[in-house]
Amino acid sequence: MTASTSTSMRSHSCGELSLDQVGQTVTLCGWVARRREHGEHLAFIDLRDHTGLVQCVVDGAAELRSEFVVRVTGVLRPRPEGTVNDQLSTGQVEVGECTVEVLSAAEPPPFPLDERAADVDETVRLRYRYLDLRREDMQKNLRTRAKINSAIRSAMDAQDFVEIETPMLIASTPEGARDFVVPARTKPGNFYALPQSPQLFKQLCMVGGVDRYYQIARCFRDEDLRADRQFEFSQLDAEMSFASQDDVLECITRAVSAAVEVVTGEGIGEVPRMTWRDAMDRFGSDKPDVRFGMELTELTSVFAKTEFNAFKASSIKGICHVGAAAETSRSRLDELTDDAKRWGAKGLVWMRVEDGEAGLSLNSPVAKFLSEDEKTGILDLLGAQAGDVIYLVADDWAKVCHVLGLLRLALGRPPVNEGGFNFLWVVDFPLFESIDPVTSKPVSAHHPFTMPHEDDWALLDGEPEDLLKVRSQAYDLVLNGWELGSGSVRIHRSDIQSRIFELLGVSAEEAALKFGFLLDAFRFGAPPHAGFAFGIDRIVALLLGEENIREVIAFPKTQSGGDPLTGAPTPIEPAQLEELGLRLLPQAT
Ligand code: AMO
Ligand code: AMP
Repeated sequence: MTASTSTSMRSHSCGELSLDQVGQTVTLCGWVARRREHGEHLAFIDLRDHTGLVQCVVDGAAELRSEFVVRVTGVLRPRPEGTVNDQLSTGQVEVGECTVEVLSAAEPPPFPLDERAADVDETVRLRYRYLDLRREDMQKNLRTRAKINSAIRSAMDAQDFVEIETPMLIASTPEGARDFVVPARTKPGNFYALPQSPQLFKQLCMVGGVDRYYQIARCFRDEDLRADRQFEFSQLDAEMSFASQDDVLECITRAVSAAVEVVTGEGIGEVPRMTWRDAMDRFGSDKPDVRFGMELTELTSVFAKTEFNAFKASSIKGICHVGAAAETSRSRLDELTDDAKRWGAKGLVWMRVEDGEAGLSLNSPVAKFLSEDEKTGILDLLGAQAGDVIYLVADDWAKVCHVLGLLRLALGRPPVNEGGFNFLWVVDFPLFESIDPVTSKPVSAHHPFTMPHEDDWALLDGEPEDLLKVRSQAYDLVLNGWELGSGSVRIHRSDIQSRIFELLGVSAEEAALKFGFLLDAFRFGAPPHAGFAFGIDRIVALLLGEENIREVIAFPKTQSGGDPLTGAPTPIEPAQLEELGLRLLPQAT
């Protein structure tokens, strides 16, 4: 039962009317969604507010146009037989004997505010976002988002997390994207950075004895925009003291479960875990979409003594696209080969599996270079049948996984709203993602405050290859192939932190300059702590079956980072520049 939305101007909302109120005089406020004339004196208007539509029968509606704002008073009655509309929640009733008061006139909207808006150019929708928001889909998305935020807050409150607001004007945070910066008027030549995340502040909260912190935090990152990325976004950000990875996973699972329950009516049970290594090995991705199979199959041993030059590599894997031979044309195979090369492969071997005279045979331009044992090995290990298409890549392990992981998604990924909600914890991420070829120093996979796995501490003193084997106590939450969130157990001991900075090539001076305040804080008694953050925009979009997070953000930026509604970003006045102590360089033409 939702609370009544009556106000001094209206008795009911449009969408709440049903046979229950028949006979009552109702006063409604809203927008004219549609007007249909029936002769000179009779007209129907569909009146819309945020709860839905209701049909009003009016005595002449000549002055009423689409999107006029009106107040309608009339008597609710059942619709005459044969005119009931099952598609509409109020389709059993209509408001009769109406008097209509125009509260605001409206110009014709630049696009229809119904399901046809889906075909309208997105820039136009965003230019007139306030009209776009009147649509049922957008209303549903924003309201569901609000309910999800509220459910997450309740779940965190119930677990004793304290909501704390951290500052927006800060020194840079180490999340790896570019900062948005704000010039400091009172200290010309100096800049604040907008937070890429509240990472350092939440750790300071732990030193401050907060014990459990959370926030639905706005974050800002200047990075290329995509379907799942905006410059500014929201995270459920959390940190807890005297806690291990398991504790964090448990608390965050409860918050996620509360979010899911808003949409499905049911929470989620235990979320399965997969190691990063397994995720890469089996799905070629650190955010595996486990809604479908087509797993990567290890074939390296089959080609141990191969004569085929392209397969003389340290790793060979394959995937089998079941039953796809008929639908996969030669030009499609060429396209996929080009894709694989763009993703970094040296090439892509494809094979159609066919029924031959003596069992299965492989139809492929490279079949002639392979021995019978190799062909049998491929068929056996992949479990391939006639009508399947097999794809093989040879290279180093990381490249093979990467390319086949992308190929798997290109071939098999279901639409976003299919296959239910498959949450997965990916654990045991590597501490370092690569060795920088220029500096020969390792590059952090998460951020430099991530605790190495206890079993792998000895490897920190090893060679560069050993460093890449060091696992961290970092973990990601994945939903249907999207990275929802990341977190880690943090380093709280200054000796370990100094060693990591040393390995990363961050000098003591640089560390002191960038994070000195955190390192200082750690000298005064830091509790062991761990945390996590997941993207609110992403979880809401996925739960609502939206391909793009823009659909669940009230006022998003376009792909190119602009806001067609306000025109941002815009130039500022010379006087403002002067005040900030800034002078612009000539624009590159
Ligand atoms: P991370 O950088 O992985 O971790 O960010 C956490 C989650 O925030 C969301 N996210 C985004 N959503 C929309 N647009 C973006 N540009 C964007 N960037 C990130 C993603 C992502 O998984 N401080 C750490 C967390 C921690 O260690 O506690 C952090 O921010 O869903
Ligand atoms: P090449 O010997 O370069 O003419 O390649 C022969 C075939 O093997 C072509 O179809 C290539 O796309 C493919 N190929 C070459 N290198 C690789 C590789 N590393 N992995 C998979 N296929 C490859």
